[in-house]
Parts: sequence; structure tokens; C-alpha cells
Amino acid sequence: MAALSGRDLLSLADLSPKEVQELLQMAIELKSKKLKLQCNKVLGLLFSKASTRTRVSFSVAMYQLGGQVIDLNPNVTQVSRGEPVEDTARVLERYLDIVAVRTFAQQELETFAHYAKIPVINALTDLEHPCQVLADLLTIQECFDTCAGLTLTYLGDGNNVANSLMLGCALVGMNVRVATPIGYEPNAAIIDTARLIAGNKTEVILTNDPEAATKGTNVLYTDVWASMGQESEADNRMPIFQPYQINEQLLNLADPEAIVLHCLPAHRGEELTHEVIEGPQSRVWDQAENRMHIQKALLASILGGE
Ligand code: CP
Ligand code: NVA
Repeated sequence: MAALSGRDLLSLADLSPKEVQELLQMAIELKSKKLKLQCNKVLGLLFSKASTRTRVSFSVAMYQLGGQVIDLNPNVTQVSRGEPVEDTARVLERYLDIVAVRTFAQQELETFAHYAKIPVINALTDLEHPCQVLADLLTIQECFDTCAGLTLTYLGDGNNVANSLMLGCALVGMNVRVATPIGYEPNAAIIDTARLIAGNKTEVILTNDPEAATKGTNVLYTDVWASMGQESEADNRMPIFQPYQINEQLLNLADPEAIVLHCLPAHRGEELTHEVIEGPQSRVWDQAENRMHIQKALLASILGGE
């Protein structure tokens, strides 16, 4: 049951292919109510960036497991007054059973995890968004019955979501194509890790050609062109990213059964059109719901059912 007992999840690369499959299966059983788990533990949410989905889905998942949640907004803690991350981690571990951290630098998350003996979950950094991608894989699995052998195309900024998607696809045997403007490619070390995981079984393709990347694909995915912390670059990025917009013309190049995903929040008219996000191939609301189911599985797996 507690396959990830006591472990951190700082990167999707922390999980093996088998562990990802077990989490997906556990989430499916929790969602269908075939599996009921109880844990009487306390989760802290230490978020230095805004969040709707991650905050609420983690909270509801924990409540449904019978646990408690404390929202540790930096503005109401000493974090915003400069208390070092090393000190915060060593204090919070004395109170909490597990903590989800949303911050800027991956290094800060790693420092926190190093000093906190309790499990630490990456709830988004500038480098990765592993919980999002676990929910994305669950959504793909539900739509196609399996992830293995499918192709996912990510269009836009080579950001945290793109990085975790490359790892996630490689872990479940999906081909992944990432199309970005020149200079906005995903993290080089993560590309290498994803290729290592994929081996000679699947492809991890990087390109600057959105049309070639979209042809025949099964899953078309995009995210905002300027992530949290990059707001000042948003206007300059607009014309650079325009060719990577998911619109009906581009969607027509994908497999006719293709689905469209977006981690949300979405900017209609920028990375995708109103017609596409509201259209019949969009699965973004199921995708958002699945954040709760997969995170419940993750919490139960790390904390152990009681
Ligand atoms: N997709 C996602 O992580 O959304 P929030 O920023 O609202 O948590
Ligand atoms: N790439 C986006 C994801 C938001 C869920 C960001 O980091 O702002």
C-alpha cells in the first residue's frame, strides 16, 4: 500500500515507471471509490506563488483522507520577513507530517527537503510541476485506456510543465514532441534525463516547428507563454509565441481523436483559442479534477493508509 512511504517528490524523475503506474492505478481506484483510505495526518501548504487548483485539490484530497491541512501563506508567516528556509524547514517538520512547497528556484525546494525530515512534495517550481503531470497522465490514461505508445505534443514555452511532461511521458512509454521558439527550449539536463528514461523505446523530440510537431499527435498540450515570475516579459513574448498557438487550424493536423490539455490557468486568444478550449476535443476540466485524485493517491502512498 505505502509504496512511496516517507519519500519526497521533488522531481518526476524521483519515480520509477512502476511507481507511476501504481499511483495511476491507485488514483483510478480512489476516484471510482473502489479504494478507501484513511490517514490522520497534517499537510502543510507552503506556497510562495499564487495557486487555485493545487491549493484546493491538495486540501480536499487531504480532508477526504481524514487528514488536516494548514495553509502556510508566506505573508502570514515569518517566511516573508526573511526567516531562512533551513530554519523554517527544521521547525515545520516538528509540527507537520508532510509539506507541499510551491516556490521559484528548485534549489530552494531541495534545501527545504534537505533540512526537513518529513516528506516534501514539489507543488511547482520554476523547473518542474510533477503533480500536474501525474494528473495529466491519469487523464490521458482515462481517455485512451493506456498511455504507452501514444504521442504527446507540447507547444509553447519550455517551462516547468514542459520539463515534467518530458519526464512523465518517458516514464509511461509515450513519445513526446516539444515545439518551442528558439531560445525557449526546456531544461537541457531534464531533456537528457528524459532521453535516458525513454532509452530506445520512445522518442523525446525537440523542434521549433509547431506544425511538424502536431502532425498525427494524440495529445496536444500547451501552457501560458509567461509563467509566474515572468510577467514583465509577457508583452515581448506575445509575437514570438504566436505561431505556437493551439487553434483549430493547428488542431486539424493532429490525429482526429486527439485531445487537448492545458494545466490552467489559460489565456484564451494567446496559447490557445476560445474555440479550442471550449471545443469537443478539450479535456481540461477532467484534467483539473484529476489533480485531486492523483494527489490523494500520492499522499496516501507517501503517508501510508491507517
Ligand atoms: N495548474 C495549476 O497548478 O494550477 P494552480 O496554479 O491554480 O495551482
Ligand atoms: N507554467 C505555469 C504553470 C502554472 C500552473 C507557471 O509556472 O506559472
